[in-house]
Amino acid sequence: MQEILRELERRRRAARLGGGERRIEAQHGRGKLTARERIELLLDPGSFEEVDMFVEHRCNDFGMAERRIPGDGVVTGQGTINGRLAFVFSQDFTVFGGSLSEAHAEKICKIMDRAMRVGAPVIGLNDSGGARIQEGIASLAGYAEVFQRNVLASGVVPQISMVMGPCAGGAVYSPAMTDFIFMVRDTSYMFVTGPEVVKTVTQEEVTQEELGGAATHTQKSGVADLAFDNDVQALHELRRFFDFLPLNNRDGVPEWPSFDDPEREEPSLDTLVPADPGRPYDIKELILKVVDEGDFFELQEAYARNIVIGFARMEGRTVGIVANQPMVLAGCLDIASSVKAARFVRFCDCFGIPIVTFVDVPGFLPGTAQEHGGIIKHGAKLLFAYAEATVPKVTVITRKAYGGAYDVMSSKHLRGDVNYAWPTAEIAVMGPKGAVEIIFRGDAGDPEKIAARTEEYRQRFANPFVAAARGYVDDVIMPRGTRRRIVHALRWLRGKRLENPPKKHDNLPL
Ligand code: HXC
Repeated sequence: MQEILRELERRRRAARLGGGERRIEAQHGRGKLTARERIELLLDPGSFEEVDMFVEHRCNDFGMAERRIPGDGVVTGQGTINGRLAFVFSQDFTVFGGSLSEAHAEKICKIMDRAMRVGAPVIGLNDSGGARIQEGIASLAGYAEVFQRNVLASGVVPQISMVMGPCAGGAVYSPAMTDFIFMVRDTSYMFVTGPEVVKTVTQEEVTQEELGGAATHTQKSGVADLAFDNDVQALHELRRFFDFLPLNNRDGVPEWPSFDDPEREEPSLDTLVPADPGRPYDIKELILKVVDEGDFFELQEAYARNIVIGFARMEGRTVGIVANQPMVLAGCLDIASSVKAARFVRFCDCFGIPIVTFVDVPGFLPGTAQEHGGIIKHGAKLLFAYAEATVPKVTVITRKAYGGAYDVMSSKHLRGDVNYAWPTAEIAVMGPKGAVEIIFRGDAGDPEKIAARTEEYRQRFANPFVAAARGYVDDVIMPRGTRRRIVHALRWLRGKRLENPPKKHDNLPL
């Protein structure tokens, strides 16, 4: 009996060693943790329960019959993060470069199926050389099995990808279909075709980092949501991020103890909006002053900075924040910001997370670059996302809400539940200057008349009361009381029930 137990221990030790000491050292030498070390940091101590530790590949070509490593390059199982269940797969670069074999894919699929069955998020820690080259088509089939599950799980359980090493070729499409992608600076990269292929086809010379490093994807492409400095920071932040997420599309938002007074007033907000309507201010100041304990988990902070998105809490319950940022492009909506916010709004709607929107938007960004780039279709994504969302929607207009952008930003007309405006709000079809130039074109040669007309227009329309008179805003509120008013709105909205007409699915303008 003792011998049998020792044999089990021996086999477990062998599995835990993955590709062996030398490769583990090489992994550490690159500044990366191993697959198991990562799981230990991500999950609550002692909570991880591994499955399929003894699974091996079934390939006999190219000498692979003699090279079977238990676990086959991916560690899978479930555990808890601050007590809440999560399913995890962590690719082991020390085993055939973390490459995906048929068996490796089956392991990932197994935990995805389990996560779907019980309604818990899936977290992937990606570190892989892609398809297991020795297995060929069996590996491609494995990828497709994972892709299919990514799609079916979308909107049912949150899926998070933490890219911590290579992720190239078609392999990028699994993270691409998950809800959030995070990366680690200097050690991770994602691209569909690598620098060698790029050089052959387009003669461009580009490094891995420039082509698909963390800076590229968080600043230029918008593929990744955030980048972290190293594995330890990344996993620590992932734990913090996880605490905001519902476990699935039925459970509702998590509720954590909150020590921030829901009635707290912020007198400094009364002077946040500058007297000169042309001057910017930082919308993040408003967000930080309104949410619980100033704790805001911003996503895509370096991309399309004219809109701010992220998670926060009100009375300990998660809310999604969307806010125009007057500091960047005057807060205009453009292609990138519309797509960025639309995807976020849709995530919140899938998972029952109320959306709080802060509006200061002068309109859509004009120009040929935007028109030729398809702002019509891409801007429609955000409009579409807000209009289809059935979660509680609370909107506060701080200053400008002009034109189509007013409609888009969670207006009353798109089933906004509670719409407030600050006294500084200007809600109109367009700004006074532009409006007067059009409707009083005949006075163009007379600056005095134009000035008088502009002032008249400003007095008449550049305020919140025209909208309030029609009930398009529910109330004009004191900026200092914004937190209290949002808290109260979210409280009564907890019981909100609203359903869209039955359909197979909608046809979002892609
Ligand atoms: C099998 C692989 C592998 C792979 C790496 N290894 N990638 N084994 N299949 N795809 C093995 C190496 O043989 C080596 O084994 C170990 O992993 C570490 O690899 P190194 O090359 O020594 O490491 P490094 O120098 O860090 O380079 C990492 C790398 C490189 C950039 C990822 O290995 C690489 O370019 N690999 C091939 C990438 C690729 O072309 N993959 C297929 C893409 S097609 P030993 O035993 O020496 O330690 C694809 C299609 C997916 O993925 C389609 C889905 C629809």
